[in-house]
Amino acid sequence: MKHVAFGTNLETTYTEWKNSPYRSEDPAKNIPCQGCHMYQKPGIPATGSTDRPLNPGSAADDSVDRPHIFTHYFVGANSYVPGLLNDTAKAGMAVERLQNAATLSLDTSRIKDKTLSVTVANTGAGHSIPTGVADLRQVWLEITIKDKSNQTGFQMGVLDDKQELPENTIVFRVVFGDGKGNKVVNIAKAREILKDNRIKAKEKVTELISLPSAPEKGSRVTVRLLYRSMDPALLKQIPGDPFKPLPVVEMAKAQAKI
Ligand code: HEC
Repeated sequence: MKHVAFGTNLETTYTEWKNSPYRSEDPAKNIPCQGCHMYQKPGIPATGSTDRPLNPGSAADDSVDRPHIFTHYFVGANSYVPGLLNDTAKAGMAVERLQNAATLSLDTSRIKDKTLSVTVANTGAGHSIPTGVADLRQVWLEITIKDKSNQTGFQMGVLDDKQELPENTIVFRVVFGDGKGNKVVNIAKAREILKDNRIKAKEKVTELISLPSAPEKGSRVTVRLLYRSMDPALLKQIPGDPFKPLPVVEMAKAQAKI
């Protein structure tokens, strides 16, 4: 979806998929949107990193049995709106999908030099993570290092008491600009893309984190990849402040001992 006046790419899920390894001229290898999204049912996330079993049956009482009946939950990743509508099965499916979208790995070999390396791999989505309204979605790294006596020595990306992300958090997202390099939240003013560090389908992104000091031996590093549909600061701008902060979904987690 492009901005009508400025032509800025606002939502690019289809292009992201078209440029991904899931798109193939060979019909046997091509996995279209439906290949994941319409194979999902409760307990079967059907992503690029899981099985996507056929759902045999018949579409109506009197019709013939077919090898696959496309499921129509089409949940996407939004674990909140379906929950609002009391559709807990859908919210649960959104969570299952998010939990089978990416993996995390840690490299602590340079920890003595105060450097931690974290790699996020998009193993399950047929497009970038996040996709769709990728300027609103929050996918971020939460990093904590605790010493032997369980005292927190370092943390990054831990929600503050207003449920907001600290300034230095590593967030995978799109940031729009006004054409002069200033960030804009209102997409009506989006003349340019200032940043897009999302994780493309079947690709990896490595982040190097500089630590203020080298953690002592016996410390434990925990990194989580977290997802939230929207920043509470944005929700607060809705008149009447009707929403509580949205739930946070753990997409992946990795731990290492120093
Ligand atoms: C290989 C499996 C796969 C394919 C193919 C795929 N998706 Fe997804 N989709 C996922 C996974 C996993 C997620 C959850 C992680 C995320 O948000 O990227 C997701 C999330 C979404 C979301 C929700 C984003 C949000 O945060 O609200 C939308 C919308 C979506 N997909 C649309 C599409 C469309 C349109 C296509 C085809 C052009 C497509 N998907 C192809 C696996 C897939």
